[in-house]
Amino acid sequence: MKLPHPAVLTAALAMLISSPVAAQTYAPRNDHVHTTAALDRSADPFAQVYIVTSRELYRRGIQSITGNGAAIGRRDSLGQELVMLPVRAHQLDDITRFVHENEKRCGGYFAFDSQAEADAFIRSDAAARSVNGTFLASYPIDNRATVDPWLSQVVERNIYDTISHLSGYQNRYYTSSTGKSSAEWIRNTWQGLAAGRSDLTTELFTACSDCSTQPSVILTVQGSELPNEIVVIGGHLDSINSSAGGSTSQRAPGADDDASGIATLTEIIRVSLASGWKPKRTIKFMGYAAEEVGLRGSKAIAQSFKNQGRNVVGVLQLDMTNYNAGAPEEMQLVTDYSNADLKTFVVNLFDTYLAPMGHTRGTYTCGYGCSDHASWTHAGYPAAMMFEGGDVSGRPFSQIHTANDTLANMGDSARHSVKFARLGLAFLGELGKTAGGGGGGNTLENGVAATGLSGARGAMLRYTM
Ligand code: BES
Ligand code: ZN
Repeated sequence: MKLPHPAVLTAALAMLISSPVAAQTYAPRNDHVHTTAALDRSADPFAQVYIVTSRELYRRGIQSITGNGAAIGRRDSLGQELVMLPVRAHQLDDITRFVHENEKRCGGYFAFDSQAEADAFIRSDAAARSVNGTFLASYPIDNRATVDPWLSQVVERNIYDTISHLSGYQNRYYTSSTGKSSAEWIRNTWQGLAAGRSDLTTELFTACSDCSTQPSVILTVQGSELPNEIVVIGGHLDSINSSAGGSTSQRAPGADDDASGIATLTEIIRVSLASGWKPKRTIKFMGYAAEEVGLRGSKAIAQSFKNQGRNVVGVLQLDMTNYNAGAPEEMQLVTDYSNADLKTFVVNLFDTYLAPMGHTRGTYTCGYGCSDHASWTHAGYPAAMMFEGGDVSGRPFSQIHTANDTLANMGDSARHSVKFARLGLAFLGELGKTAGGGGGGNTLENGVAATGLSGARGAMLRYTM
């Protein structure tokens, strides 16, 4: 039995849980429906076959066609609920019709000759996600026309001023009043930079059940050619003084962790928008709430994107960009909870745009999901994180989560963040590309090349769009 290519399988299972809108992105690529004897209903319409579908779709109507029968609960590698159940071959037409008429979408299930094959299909999904596509790594870096002019426009003073402002709040703890007002200040600042453009929106994301009163902040630049393909760049906006396990009153300036990331993002927004840039893909700048208490804001956003079947093609996390006390390498790529191909892409960006400026890079392993990139990874999206070089041994700033995480203790300068602003600009220019030119780049499905279902033969017998 030959299984579909892992990347295809990942896209295929994602399809089961995707929204009607996202489902349409698969529409042109279903030209390889494969049917075998058992599924040839003219041969035996009463033959038993097995289908795999999402529990949601099952509840919404497939159940009424097939009866309650022997539906078996399963989960995909991301924990999404699936069901596997035996049906008669002739019922497949009714199911297809139901999905078309009621869901206004296509597909929604896979059919197999046997339960064993259906199970193998579900099991192989986990491997597919860790293997992932091989496309982002070789994704073309060909948009110098957009990126090069940006690099010299980064202004250290702007980054310094934003860090200074944000570290001036008593704290940005997720339950404190200044945790909320500082987030609103970020929103207003970003909105000011977006003024006058109808393709830009800012929002406070509050659909987080455990973020207390702290919102996340999202600035969206609507893509002009591929608006359903989303590029995310973000950092967390909260801070914590962990000496008392976090509190609403204690001083937590969080200048490095992570006012520096938010200040870097703010300068990236300023430079990219000042040039009148119109990206092909949709770009989302994100300031996440409540990271310091368990990545809560980013988790809520990533899970909601996953539930809506949104197609996020790459996520870059900027958390701690401004401390450097003689580090052997100036920028460290986090090795874990990250997508292999996206890491390679980020390294390629570094080598193209930053290495020629004399900068150096290394790697750092957190050993756990240490920042918001892990929320995206958990939701099945390609994410990566680059952060500061640290001390002479490459250790990160030791004063984070204390009252001493201040600009003064980072050399009273924002010069180290400048290179992260440049990396972020390169990330956006190259992954977002530029409308009306500025590089090609193929369509991506969660960072996997949308090459079609041509590999989906053998076990996957029938898939209709
Ligand atoms: N910025 C840190 C993570 C970090 C620290 C990255 C040092 C690289 C080097 C982040 O804000 C943080 O403190 N995360 C928490 C984890 C979270 C799940 C509560 C941590 O590391 O304890
Ligand atoms: Zn942090």
